Amino acid sequence: MAEPIKVTIFVNGVGHTKRIEPRTHLIDFLRDELGIKSARVACEHGVCGACTVRLDGDIVRGCLVLAVQADGQEVETIDGASDRGDLAELQAAFHAHNALQCGFCTSGMLLTASSLLAEKPQASREQVREYMSGNYCRCTGYQAIVDAVCEVLEKRRVDTVA
Ligand code: FES
Ligand code: FES
Repeated sequence: MAEPIKVTIFVNGVGHTKRIEPRTHLIDFLRDELGIKSARVACEHGVCGACTVRLDGDIVRGCLVLAVQADGQEVETIDGASDRGDLAELQAAFHAHNALQCGFCTSGMLLTASSLLAEKPQASREQVREYMSGNYCRCTGYQAIVDAVCEVLEKRRVDTVA
């Protein structure tokens, strides 16, 4: 077994220094070392998007990033983004459209959707579907999720013009 490595990772604004095995994935660091279970894990090989978190502002799959790669960097989970009010519009739209059932995929969905809002404010419904296609939902059939994201996009476009 490789020697543990000391890392300091800032999660939702708080620094955490731990000694970890070099092969520890970021998602396991968050869940097992810090107890942040809202960061989900499912497929563990980069397919489903359940483990989506932000790393220095960019969304990444926590099961494909090693914790040592995040040493000295800022990680944000759904808790941090939600507490800052960053996701309030999306959360309200997901609620209004019933865009979640078990909620297992929802952390990743919301973080991916927030990235879409920032990167592609003019996205069409088809582009929303494509952008969100890396996040799997086992419950909703996706229509409600796409409806919710499109509603927020449209509202922002109207607000920008007004
Ligand atoms: S658990 Fe990371 S992509 Fe599925
Ligand atoms: S709401 Fe159950 S997996 Fe998406």
